[in-house]
Amino acid sequence: MEISENDLWILSYYRESELAGSLVMGRLARETDDDDLRVHLTEHCAEEAHHAWLWTETILKVGGTPKRVAETYQTRYYHEIGTPTSLLEILALTQVFERRVIRHFRAHLKWPNTHPEVAATLKRMIEDEVGHITWVKDRLDRYSVEKGESIVAETMRRFTEVDERVYEAAMRYRDNARELLDPSVRGNGQARQLTPSREGAASANGSQDKLHNDVRRIVAKSLSVSDDVILETSSLRDLGVNSLDLVVLVMSIEETFRIEFDPSDLERLKTFGDLARRVGELKGER
Ligand SMILES: [Fe+2]
Ligand SMILES: [Fe+2]
Repeated sequence: MEISENDLWILSYYRESELAGSLVMGRLARETDDDDLRVHLTEHCAEEAHHAWLWTETILKVGGTPKRVAETYQTRYYHEIGTPTSLLEILALTQVFERRVIRHFRAHLKWPNTHPEVAATLKRMIEDEVGHITWVKDRLDRYSVEKGESIVAETMRRFTEVDERVYEAAMRYRDNARELLDPSVRGNGQARQLTPSREGAASANGSQDKLHNDVRRIVAKSLSVSDDVILETSSLRDLGVNSLDLVVLVMSIEETFRIEFDPSDLERLKTFGDLARRVGELKGER
């Protein structure tokens, strides 16, 4: 059975989204102080990387080549809600995302003319994804006990709503996936424009004050506090940033401002002012 060009685009999209999931989990696994979380995150990283490999293998088996795609399912979420800024947001997003993946893969199995190799890979993946939901759910339940049910429920509700929209928008391209995913069809820069959140776009030409305010807004969102409690001299630790939250925060800032911190920065940045100044330096170096 021959695979269509459209299906190759879709499989390449799955492959890239699995890889993106793996990279986030791996990064968190390297930084967390929590021994139990480190195990789950490492396993999750390994499985998503394996899924990316299974899709690669499937694409090769059916005679295709993995295509370079302009976006992933995750970048669509980030476009809608900004990059996750706390561990709670990462967990909630993962939970919503994993549920979506399972539902979508089950639906894909029923699509007419699904290649048998593709169907076999879909079935295999559905089993693994169920395991991912279980550990994330346990963690979210623990978070509810520690920080209150309402904040978890509210975050889940918000992300579920976004997921409905993102999924519906992506599915409009089901029969013309290339239009969404081919970087050359979308034109230079268009793919990128989808990703940065409003903060990044707005600060591109802004002053230093503007930049600090943009960083402040992300930190405030991450800590669920109002902007005005975050002063230049505020210690990140005193503001309640634990080491894993700092990693999530750093990832969010990197994504928003299109920069990359040095590994040593995480140790050095003590106050909000340090963080905002470093963002300014890195943006200047670009
Ligand atoms: Fe996966
Ligand atoms: Fe997964």
